[in-house]
Formats: sequence, C-alpha cells, structure tokens
Amino acid sequence: MRRYSRITGTGSYLPPRRLTNVDLVAELATQGVETTDDWIVERTGIRARHFAAPDVCSSDLALEAARKALEAANLQANEIDLIIVATSTPDMVFPSTACILQNKLGANGCAAFDVQAVCSGFVYALTVADAMIQTGAASKALVIGAEVFSRILDFKDRTTCVLFGDGAGAVVLQASDTPGILATDLHADGKHVGILCVPGHVSGGVALGDPVLKMDGQAVFKLAVGVLEDAARAVLAKANLTEADIDWLIPHQANIRIMQSTARKLKLPMDKVVVTVDQHGNTSAASIPLALDHAVRAGQVKKGDTLMLEGVGGGFTWGAVLLNF
Ligand code: UT7
Repeated sequence: MRRYSRITGTGSYLPPRRLTNVDLVAELATQGVETTDDWIVERTGIRARHFAAPDVCSSDLALEAARKALEAANLQANEIDLIIVATSTPDMVFPSTACILQNKLGANGCAAFDVQAVCSGFVYALTVADAMIQTGAASKALVIGAEVFSRILDFKDRTTCVLFGDGAGAVVLQASDTPGILATDLHADGKHVGILCVPGHVSGGVALGDPVLKMDGQAVFKLAVGVLEDAARAVLAKANLTEADIDWLIPHQANIRIMQSTARKLKLPMDKVVVTVDQHGNTSAASIPLALDHAVRAGQVKKGDTLMLEGVGGGFTWGAVLLNF
C-alpha cells in the first residue's frame, strides 16, 4: 500500500508586541523616516505586525507554535521523529534552529535540520518532510516556519522596514494510508539573488557586508505574480485537479495585491483566499503556517478541504503544495 503524509495538527505563535501602522509611523518619525498608514495599507494591505522582544529568538517562537501543533495532533514531543525548521533568521550561525528547538521541546534523538529558502521556506520544508515520510525515513514530523525578521530590517529604509513582522507557524505531518499531500512543486532561479537579499556574512568574528534586508520591490512583485500562477497550475496538473477543486488558497502573505492577482489568475474569489497579511505583515517562512493555523482555528479551513499553499521569495525561490486537509 502506498504511503502518504497528512497534516494532523497546526499551531502558531505571535510575539505579544503588536505595532499598528500608526504606531510604526510614529516610531519611524522619531528617526526622521517618513511614511504613512495610507501608503502602507494602499500598497501592501498591511495594517499591523508583531515584533519579538530583543531576547527572543526564532526557536522561542517556534517552540510555542510547535507545542500548539503537537497538542492539536494529540502527540507528545518525544513521539516526533523529524523536525524541520524553515527560517532565514536562525538563532545562531550554527547549530540549526531545529536542533535548538528540539532541545527546548525535549524531543532529543530525532533528525532535526533547517531549510533556508526565505519566504518559500515552509513549502520547501513541507515538501522535504512529505518526501521523507513517503520513503519511510520519517513517520511523525514537525514542520515549522519561524522568523524574527525585525532583526534584519534597516529601520532607516522605509521601502522595506514597514513590510515585515515576526512569528511562527507549525504543522505536524504524519504517515497516512490516504493523502494528505497530493502534489508538490519547487523551483529556484539563482540569477535573481540580488533582488531580495541580506548581503552580509560573518568572518573573523565580525559581520561583513551589509547584513540588513535589501529588496527591489517592483522586481520581486513582477516575478512573484508570474511564478505563483505557474506553481499553482503545476500542482493541480500533477494531482489531476482543476482550480474549481480548491477550497482555500493560502499564499505567502507579502502583499494583498500579489494575492489578489494570483486569485484572479486562478479564477478564485477572494473569499477563498486566507488573508492574514493585514494583521501579521510579511513573516517570511512563517507566513503560510501562521495563516493556515489562523484559518483552522477560525473555523474557515475544515477537515477534508483541498488547500493550495504557495510560497515565493528570496533566492529567487517559489513553490506550491496541494493537499487534502
Ligand atoms: O516576501 C518576499 C516577497 N516579497 C514581496 O512579495 C514584495 C513584493 N513587492 C511589493 O510588495 C511592492 O513592490 C512594495 C510594497 C515593496 C512597494 O510597492 P510599489 O507599489 O511597488 O511601490 P514603489 O516601490 O514603486 O514605490 C512607489 C513610491 C516611490 O516614490 P516615487 O519614486 O514614486 O516618488 C517610493 O519612494 O512610494 C515610495 N515609497 C514610500 N512612500 C511612503 C516607498 N516606500 C514607502 C513608504 N512610505 N514606506
């Protein structure tokens, strides 16, 4: 009998410090940086974001999200045999945030590693976990997106610092006789490294380069709308389904205009799109599992629904996962 993987629990966590656009605009004004609530809402759909306290790391956010996902799946941490954390804001250069999280969870012994695909990180991590479950390399996986993007923002650059937030989302993915994950599709095109990057590294004990986020927003926007349609169509074709079979589109939450464009191309009404960007901002690898958990707990996403998860971001990376929830 073929072995599949299925999501059996979701969880998420947002750090308590919430800044509305009005709060952020006032804070930035004290540094001489001019922006407005109207600009942010009109160009992005973002109204608020959460920022972690200075001593809180991605693994701390991941821990809270993971505990909730485990509880929802009715599993103990020591039953997990694989932990994958998608993050571009790891606690340390090494070891992986997944290993740090494993210790905090008390799940010692299982395989644990990070996936670095920026805002596509969660669909990459979910695809890897699905493949490992299908081959029998794992049976009960925790797949997490966790970020503290506030740490890598340049608060003097109004074109980027208003866009991002911190948070974590998690799923438990388990082996199953029935799917589960129906199809996956991942891509990258490294020639676009420069349009979204943090161009710094550590050498000789100091940070070299410019280790804050740089983005050519318009270039990212244009690429994103094209590749998201392609990835959606690819997973639908692999699963022998059509747009009409999608109950919920859960895209990376970067900009409401990108989501509207994807929905239009897939002929989906916006009431089939899970939108949390207004409240969370862009939380990179955390955005999809955060949105999924919010939709599950709000009673929108129900057992048996067909979900299209789509990520896009730095690399340039993109991909989609089609699944039966
Ligand atoms: O997570 C990975 C994926 N990331 C994304 O998907 C992001 C994709 N890109 C975007 O979402 C959009 O390109 C942005 C939201 C980043 C920017 O929106 P835009 O409509 O492309 O604006 P723009 O860059 O063309 O800037 C328009 C104007 C410029 O002024 P001028 O040159 O027209 O006078 C900017 O200087 O808006 C100005 N501007 C701002 N004004 C007030 C840029 N940032 C701000 C700001 N407040 N925060």
